[in-house]
Order: sequence, then C-alpha cells, then structure tokens
Amino acid sequence: MAINNFLLFSLTFQLLLLLRGSSESSRITGDVSRTPKKFLELAKSPDLFDWMVSIRRKIHENPELGFEEYETSKLIRSELDLMGVKYRYPVAITGVVGYIGTGEPPFVALRADMDALPMQEDVEWAHKSKVPGKMHACGHDGHVAMLLGAAKMLQEHRQDLQGTVVLIFQPAEEVFAGAKKMIEEGALKHVEAIFGIHLTNRVPFGKTASLAGSLLAGSGFFEAVVTGKGGHAAIPQHTIDPVIAASSVVLSLQHLVSRETDPLDSKVVTVSMVHGGNAFNVIPDSITLGGTLRAFTGFSQLQQGVKEVITKQATVHRCNASVNLTPHGKEQVPPLVNDMDLYKQFKNMVGDLLGEESFVEASPVMGGEDFSYFAEAIPGHFSFLGMQDETKSYASTHSSLYRVNEDALPYGAAMHASMAVRYLKDKDSKGSNSKKDRTLKPLSDFITTLFIVHWIFL
Ligand SMILES: *[C@@H]1O[C@H](CO)[C@@H](O)[C@H](O)[C@H]1NC(C)=O
Ligand SMILES: [Zn+2]
Ligand SMILES: [Zn+2]
Repeated sequence: MAINNFLLFSLTFQLLLLLRGSSESSRITGDVSRTPKKFLELAKSPDLFDWMVSIRRKIHENPELGFEEYETSKLIRSELDLMGVKYRYPVAITGVVGYIGTGEPPFVALRADMDALPMQEDVEWAHKSKVPGKMHACGHDGHVAMLLGAAKMLQEHRQDLQGTVVLIFQPAEEVFAGAKKMIEEGALKHVEAIFGIHLTNRVPFGKTASLAGSLLAGSGFFEAVVTGKGGHAAIPQHTIDPVIAASSVVLSLQHLVSRETDPLDSKVVTVSMVHGGNAFNVIPDSITLGGTLRAFTGFSQLQQGVKEVITKQATVHRCNASVNLTPHGKEQVPPLVNDMDLYKQFKNMVGDLLGEESFVEASPVMGGEDFSYFAEAIPGHFSFLGMQDETKSYASTHSSLYRVNEDALPYGAAMHASMAVRYLKDKDSKGSNSKKDRTLKPLSDFITTLFIVHWIFL
C-alpha cells in the first residue's frame, strides 16, 4: 500500500514537472508584464549606471571614424565576453553582432552605431576627446553604452526570452555606409524586426519621440567640378569664366525645389561648399561645389535633376561640368520609414516603462540616418530619446559643444531591453506556442489539483 502510494506520488509529481516545463511560456507571461519597470530600476542601479557611464566615457575619449572603430569594437567584444554573450566578428570590418536567448526564432534586433565625427571637441571636461580633430558629437558613444547596458540585463534574464535578441553594433553611420555593409555581410540573417534609438537634445529628458511612417528623409550628396579656362581677370574675353557658371548653377539648383516640387512635398537642395580661385586678378580654371539633397519621395528624380541643372547650366556658360553623386564614398540613404505595428508596440512599451506622457509624437525631419537601410530590408522602428533638461544647456548634434546627458543612458538601456522582451512575447502569444499552452494549461491545473488531493489524503 505504502509503495503504491509512493509510486503514484512520484509519478504524478514527475508528470506535473513535465507539464510545468512545457507550459513555461504561460507562466513567464506574468513575469514579463512586470518586466519594463524592472528594467528601468535595474538600469538606474548604481552598478549598471556607473558601468554604462564609464564605457561611454572611454569611447568618448577615444573617438574613431567610420570603419576605423577598432578600439571601440574591441571594448564591446571584451564586455560581451565578460557577460558570456556569443557574437559574430568582424561584420563590416569593425561591426559586432551578438546573440542572447534561445538561439531559436523569432529573432529581434537592437542596433547601436559606433562612429565619431571628424571635428574638434570644444567642451572642456575630464573625458574630452584625446584625439585632435575627432569627436563623438552625435551621441554614438552613448548608444554603445545603452546597448551594452541592455545586453547585460537581457543576458541576466535570458531564461525569460522566448527567442533570440540580436545586438547590432554598427560602424560608419555618419558616412551612411555601415548599415548597408552590415546587411550585405548577413547581420540581419533570420531577423524579423529591428529597433534603434538615437539620443537627442531636441526632446526633453526622459521622454521619447517617434512616429509611424516617414521619420527621416532620404539623403544624398553631390560634388561637381565646373571647368572653364582661366586667365587675366581684366581680360575676360580670353577666358571661359567658371565662377559665373558656378554661380548660375547655385541659383538654378534652388528652382528644383521652389518650382519643380509640389509645395506640400518636402524636399531640400543645399549647396554647402563652393571652392575656387585664390587671387583678385586671376580667373580660375575651375570651381568645385557640393552639397546635399533630401527627399521622402522621388529621390532619384531629384538626383537626376541636380545632375542635369549642373551640367546644362555649365554648358550655357561654355563650361563643362562633372557631377559625382557619391563623393568621398558618401553613400545615399533611403528615407527612414517606421513600421506601423512596431510603432504601436513601441508606444505601448513606453507607456508601461515610463508612463504615457513620456511618449511624444515626432515630426518628420529632413535629416538622414542609415538605420533606414535596416528598416527598408525588414520592419524597423527608430526613436529619439530626449536628454534636454531645464538648464537647456545641451547643444545640438554635430556641434563642437555637444554633450551627452548621461542620466539618459538607463532610459535607453531599459527601452532597448523592454522592447526586445515585449516583441518576443507578443510574437510568442501570436505563435503556435499559445495553442500548446491552451491545451496544456487546464491539463496541468488538473494534475496539480490531483497532486494536492492525493498529497492531502496520503
Ligand atoms: C568641354 O568638353 C569638350 C569635349 O570634351 C571640350 O572640347 C571642351 O574644350 C571643354 N571645354 C572646357 C571649357 O573645358
Ligand atoms: Zn550624426
Ligand atoms: Zn547619429
């Protein structure tokens, strides 16, 4: 009798454990719904916060330009090694792609860029750039620190992940080529959605801004050489003056937007560089000019227009012109379009994590971001995380006085981590697992009851 009871007891117990194991996801759903706030608390804890700040400062002191982020990449890999996170390297020269979770689908990616800008820092502080003429003036040092912070939290909670989080540390955002190369080298393999966060001083501290649809414009560059025939400035009839031709080009380019574009469609053509001549009494042989063009739609037509205006205006003035649409390897990027479903998920996540009032509906900006390559390849969502406090002392991006409000780092880390967890959870509840849970849950509950009843009467 006792042996029979014992057998029944252990059999029931084992069955229960088995069912508990396979209905794991239904149990975790409860945990995950509380996760967002937990991630913010964790990210703000002195240990994690100080660690993120120290990483950000190390990178800030040693800024590296696009595709040269060797030390930054090394730092990232050594931190991932310490966490026990597996990664792929090199991807696009210096890029790193880390993996946290089951190693199984679904795969959701979080992205940070690593590169600095070729400009001199004018902020005097303890961790000022140690490299003359190079500076992190776009906050990419902060982006790396935030994603590493998220990685640490996700790795500690990896048993809660119902899929795989892919960490994308990307080179060369500022020259618009890094994301493209990462994709070419397989960074998005298996990945079905991607999220990116950019620090900004245009949004109040602790708030985040995004929108569904077109957020940032397609961006491209041009450089043109207008060639004439130089000579004495007082004997113009023996020259072909490229200064007049180039001036005409600059003015005519304005009409592409003012006369040829629907006034309700936003486009920009800016000539930002004009170089040529170096004497008062000499007409130069050539003038070099360059600038940028931006559009949400009809980008290639605008490019074509720029090329045509430059060459034809040069011809009017008997000059020749050559036009380069990818000068100095500066690639063009498509417009950045946020996926509607991901936008909704993101907005809900922000509501849970920071409160609904912390979400700001963004307005489109004519700036460009090469995250758009990712969002073009798969559904993507890009958002801005605010850093501006009541002192209003934070300068704009790409300013030599730019500073990162380091108190924003935990917000970015928590947003990354929460978004990944939520995406995988939503995916899971829509996926086949939910069916399994529905059939197993009542069975599991029944056996629990049986077990308790049995135990009471034993
Ligand atoms: C422009 O190009 C044509 C054809 O190559 C050449 O004949 C002409 O001399 C060039 N004009 C100038 C001003 O360079
Ligand atoms: Zn930038
Ligand atoms: Zn940037």
